[in-house]
Amino acid sequence: MRRHPEYAYELLSPVEFLRLALDIPYCHHEKWDGSGYPRGLRGESIPLAARIFAVADVWDALRSDRPYRKGWEEEKVRDHIREQSGIHFDPRVVEVFLSLGD
Ligand SMILES: [Fe+2]
Repeated sequence: MRRHPEYAYELLSPVEFLRLALDIPYCHHEKWDGSGYPRGLRGESIPLAARIFAVADVWDALRSDRPYRKGWEEEKVRDHIREQSGIHFDPRVVEVFLSLGD
């Protein structure tokens, strides 16, 4: 599971028209505080597209029903994303993301 950003990079990098978008699959599990993977990038060294996608990806994962749990209520997901601002997520991305639902 932790290898999927690298697998995505290997699979997609030969595709010329996807090259500019590779930051997203490759870097979407990096975390603002440097505790993510695969490279342990920190803060603004994580490409912006991946920082934005990380918030949307977690939003989608937590809101969705899974075989092992029900999707979370919207307010619970908003609270989680807010709590992870500056830890998992870029605080400016969180601020804009949460403002979209107001
Ligand atoms: Fe992922």
